[in-house]
Amino acid sequence: ARLVVLVSGSGSNLQALLDAATDPRFPAEVVAVGADVPDAYGLERAAGADVPTFVVEPSAYADRAAWTDALADAVAAHEPDWVVCAGFMRILGAAFVQRFAGRIVNTHPALLPSFPGAHGVRDAMAYGVKVTGCTVHLVDEGVDTGPILAQASVAVRADDDEPSLHERIKTVERELLVETVAALAAHGCTVTGRKVTIP
Ligand code: GRF
Repeated sequence: ARLVVLVSGSGSNLQALLDAATDPRFPAEVVAVGADVPDAYGLERAAGADVPTFVVEPSAYADRAAWTDALADAVAAHEPDWVVCAGFMRILGAAFVQRFAGRIVNTHPALLPSFPGAHGVRDAMAYGVKVTGCTVHLVDEGVDTGPILAQASVAVRADDDEPSLHERIKTVERELLVETVAALAAHGCTVTGRKVTIP
């Protein structure tokens, strides 16, 4: 299966996919990496793996709808089976979600539906939860609201701060994302209401 991965930052989740895909038994390949910012380190990781990259910056477009269409065109040019948002920090517009309906995956550093949004780790800590984790889910038109594919838990330690907790979550998250993408690439999934089954 062909993956286009979207990143905004460090791209360690992308790296996990790139590393997994070096095994010929892995059922997917990263065919392109896109970003919304030119300095996303994930772009360098892609280049290091000889994977083509593209940047579609909102500031280059008149409005959100125009940016959304440009991003969707750039993604579509690589003919993905799956679009993987791996630390992509911008909300995808409805036009994008509809164009790749049921084929967009996101990873989120909290146990959804708790703590959606850009600060899942911080919000969970501030709430005082003792267990948090990560969620890999299909993307719908809401913010972190799509059907859940997989989750893993991470215990919060008394001495955690946001970076230490996020780092432990990311260790688990990378593995969960790679496993889930492999399963989707190999078997697809069926969605019934909120329930997703990977056969
Ligand atoms: C991940 O925890 C992702 O869920 C969150 O930002 C982090 C991205 O990490 N939204 P990286 O860029 O893959 O290293």
